[in-house]
Amino acid sequence: MAGATGHQQWSSRWTFMLAAVGSAVGLGNIWKFPYEAGEGGGGAFVLVYLAFVFAIGLPCLIAELSLGRRGQLSPIGSMSKIAEEEGRSKLWSLLGWSGVLGGFIVLSFYSVVGGWVLYYIVEAFTGFEGYDAAKSGATFTAFITDPTKPIIAHAAFLFITLGIVARGVQGGLEKAVTFLMPALFVLLLGLMIYSGITADFGAAVNFLFSPDFSKLTGDKVLQALGLSFFSLSLALGSIMTYGSYLTKDINITRSAFTIATADSAVALMAGLAIFPIVFAYDLNPGQSVGLVFTTLPIAFGQMPSIVAILFFFLLTVAAVTSAISLLEPAVAYVEERTGIDRKKVAIIIGLAAFVLGTLSAWGQSGNMLGDVKLFGLDIMSVKDYLTNNIMMPLGGMFIAIFVGWFASRKNMMEELAMEDSTFKIWYFLVRFVCPVAIGAVFVSLII
Ligand code: PHE
Repeated sequence: MAGATGHQQWSSRWTFMLAAVGSAVGLGNIWKFPYEAGEGGGGAFVLVYLAFVFAIGLPCLIAELSLGRRGQLSPIGSMSKIAEEEGRSKLWSLLGWSGVLGGFIVLSFYSVVGGWVLYYIVEAFTGFEGYDAAKSGATFTAFITDPTKPIIAHAAFLFITLGIVARGVQGGLEKAVTFLMPALFVLLLGLMIYSGITADFGAAVNFLFSPDFSKLTGDKVLQALGLSFFSLSLALGSIMTYGSYLTKDINITRSAFTIATADSAVALMAGLAIFPIVFAYDLNPGQSVGLVFTTLPIAFGQMPSIVAILFFFLLTVAAVTSAISLLEPAVAYVEERTGIDRKKVAIIIGLAAFVLGTLSAWGQSGNMLGDVKLFGLDIMSVKDYLTNNIMMPLGGMFIAIFVGWFASRKNMMEELAMEDSTFKIWYFLVRFVCPVAIGAVFVSLII
């Protein structure tokens, strides 16, 4: 997969699309979106999230992919190279640094939750028969408050991720995404239909799609903005790194549109599979990180156990393909700077993520670090807030500002090769809409 420059390249548009969709679709859609929509009060949050995905996330996705392809290096290397070519300050490479660092922080808690999913494959083998609200809640709490099980699961999840990254992005990734991502999509569709028929579909639709803006505080708007970036894998270097493996003949705009559509479709499907159960069983939609783990097992209890096994297996695959893209920017950077073998680099970074992640896992358990709080938040929530609500929106804002104001229009036009009218719309969005909207969300929180 080495290209003419010696840098890795995707073998086809298809591989790239699978990898990019694999990066975007993950726990962000199936774990994070439903519980944040639940905490955010439903409809209004969902509407704002979708508006952010298409009006802000999508133009930033196009921008980040094009920066990666133009730079052909790691996010840090690409940003400093492009800034230099444009006669701008090298300080723009900080955008690459914040991506690599943020990606690492996200990886450290993402792999903890990935471990939860992995553990639920094991639970699924015993079966969820007879699960009701109380039992599914008790199983989840017993697991995350156990001092060792979540750590072992976390290590196992990272181990799988490292194994694939060490082999180079394409080898393992291509196989994982070609069949397994479409399979997850089909299974999710099936679950959505099942819980739609057997549980309270009407209440779920009402909750997710009838907006009540009185429930939407400034902080929730910022969270929806962060979630739109999180679920599109933006501003953490992942998309820029994947963009750097792109060949010139690929149409970035069309690809980005497909990624954003697939990504939000999966989030909505997950919501429509989970919330009918929430309302039919009188569960709390705002119950935070445990939502998916306490609702779906109730439905799985009424099905052959293979369905649950398959679901948690495919969700693990979706999470691994995202985790790979979180690890890859840091690995690409260290490899580029030091020439050290990527296997070694991946192991070292993976170990560091393991240590940092263990703190978040213990932060969930009452008996370990459960009482350690920063600003009233447990360790995992602190990392989530820092990346989701601060680093990602700010990163996105600076990406938009860079391509809109600091890179030459001509270069962007050449890189994107868009039709004139599409380019004008995109350029307007990155120059004005993205920075102003993101800035406004921050300002509204401060004043
Ligand atoms: N988009 C991934 C998900 O939804 C998470 C992710 C965020 C991956 C940022 C890479 C970069 O699960």
